[in-house]
Amino acid sequence: PIRAVIFDLDGVIADTAVVHHAAWRRLAVQLGVPFDEAVGERMKGVDRRGSLEILLERAPRAYSEAEKEELAARKNDYYREQIQRFGPGDLLPGAREAIEAVRRAGLKTGLASASRNAPLLLERLGIAGLFDHVVDANRIARSKPDPEIFLAAASGLGVAPEECLGVEDAAAGIAALRAAGMTAVGVGRAPALADADVLLPSVAAFDIGSFIAV
Ligand code: G6P
Ligand code: MG
Repeated sequence: PIRAVIFDLDGVIADTAVVHHAAWRRLAVQLGVPFDEAVGERMKGVDRRGSLEILLERAPRAYSEAEKEELAARKNDYYREQIQRFGPGDLLPGAREAIEAVRRAGLKTGLASASRNAPLLLERLGIAGLFDHVVDANRIARSKPDPEIFLAAASGLGVAPEECLGVEDAAAGIAALRAAGMTAVGVGRAPALADADVLLPSVAAFDIGSFIAV
């Protein structure tokens, strides 16, 4: 049986996928690197440095380690400029209700975010207290699609991976959930989420009742 639900943050609970995308685009324009929806989609769920490597695949020249560090920091500055202004109004519709419904059903709630800005964002959104266990990128070594972050969340919640259901908006996240042996619920547009066990248009359509025996 399902005993816990582990949520992704960016693009599932918070309306930040577009903010990450805009920050990368701003950097791409400065560097003269082509950037489109497909590249942006591949970056979802991937950590900051991994995302930069994806962006630089099409760069006209090579960048040194020190330059890459500066570029990643610059993108993060652009991102944080926007996040500083975030509040509960930047929760995606139905997100808070979905998490609260899981708690009411007696299941545990976890958060697994590849973002090092996750703690700040949770405070801004006013939902830090809704999770029994939070794992953010500051505490793991390998980025999604590696299952490490979801396995760490299950362990922190004290449940087996097979007893977990994960909610994700990114291809890398769905792959990580499957590698962890968890049930994968995809939210968003189908093309990137073909490997999900269940596909929903958004987190507002998430109904915990449909996943648990009554
Ligand atoms: C999330 C987003 C990614 C982002 C990553 C790292 O997974 O979906 O687009 O690259 O977090 O975020 P950070 O805030 O640490 O740069
Ligand atoms: Mg996401």
